[in-house]
Amino acid sequence: MNLILFGAAMSSRRFAYDCLQKGDTILFFADNDPNKQNTTLTLECGGGGGRLGFDVLPPSAILEHNFDKVVIATLAGASEIRAQLTEMGIAPHRIDDSYVATYLASLQNFLQNFAMLAKERALSGDCAEVGVYRGDFARHINAHFPTKKLYLFDTFEGFAAADLRAESALVQGMGAGHFANTSVELVLSKMPHKEQCVVRKGWFPDTARGLEDSRFCFVRLDTDLYDPILAGLAFFYPRLVPGGILIVDDYFSTYDGVKKAVDAFAAKSQIPIVPIGDGISVALAK
Ligand SMILES: C[S@@+](CC[C@H](N)C(=O)[O-])C[C@H]1O[C@@H](n2cnc3c(N)ncnc32)[C@H](O)[C@@H]1O
Repeated sequence: MNLILFGAAMSSRRFAYDCLQKGDTILFFADNDPNKQNTTLTLECGGGGGRLGFDVLPPSAILEHNFDKVVIATLAGASEIRAQLTEMGIAPHRIDDSYVATYLASLQNFLQNFAMLAKERALSGDCAEVGVYRGDFARHINAHFPTKKLYLFDTFEGFAAADLRAESALVQGMGAGHFANTSVELVLSKMPHKEQCVVRKGWFPDTARGLEDSRFCFVRLDTDLYDPILAGLAFFYPRLVPGGILIVDDYFSTYDGVKKAVDAFAAKSQIPIVPIGDGISVALAK
């Protein structure tokens, strides 16, 4: 099949490898971010396969090409991309979101099951997500924990330059300001129980100041980078209530700083880490 992959993100690489392994052809990548358009996305192919380069083009280029399917290949903002493609007149059977759907369904099942247990066991403590971006996962936390406060942490200006220093050349290439296309208003507009939401805008861990006495029941760290992941573990893990859980996205991904931070924290604190079954995240329980 001739495919166009929508989204030139880190996660897109993983989906691209899967498509190539199935024998499909990737024509190019499409992306809404003008900074990525007209660049080249490089895939490292292991086993002596060398490197493959793909053009990253604006979404308007999709309609100028013959293709079989557009594959939604970015985890953040997948539902908005589907709507955008539909608006462009692309028929539903030519939009393939099966890659992201599998990941999201397992992640949401995990959240739903944990929320049920937390209720059954009357766990106290608040909820938090560090790295909310456009609020697409945070809204599920808010929906499953309607009676709990939900702290929403993000710069709302994308990656901070200071955090990129510890990263690989590949991640540094994403650039400061990556993920800046969001806003507090957009995120809050998606929350079913806005009254429970507390927005902490700015650089984490600075934005955790004042919460030293808080306790947490469910925390998700999704900042992609070594420094804020390590800071998130150091801040939240000791503040989990017994039975509480902290999950870290991108442990199994090309954001290699995430795994390094989790492994360093887990080794030092002697805490076991457990994959949650979405193919990407791990959990640390209290
Ligand atoms: C992959 S996105 C989060 C996606 C979101 N959790 C979702 O499920 O849709 C990563 C986010 O982490 C934020 N971030 C990265 N480093 C940060 C830091 N030090 N402080 C606050 N936010 C940060 C970025 O601004 C970006 O919005």
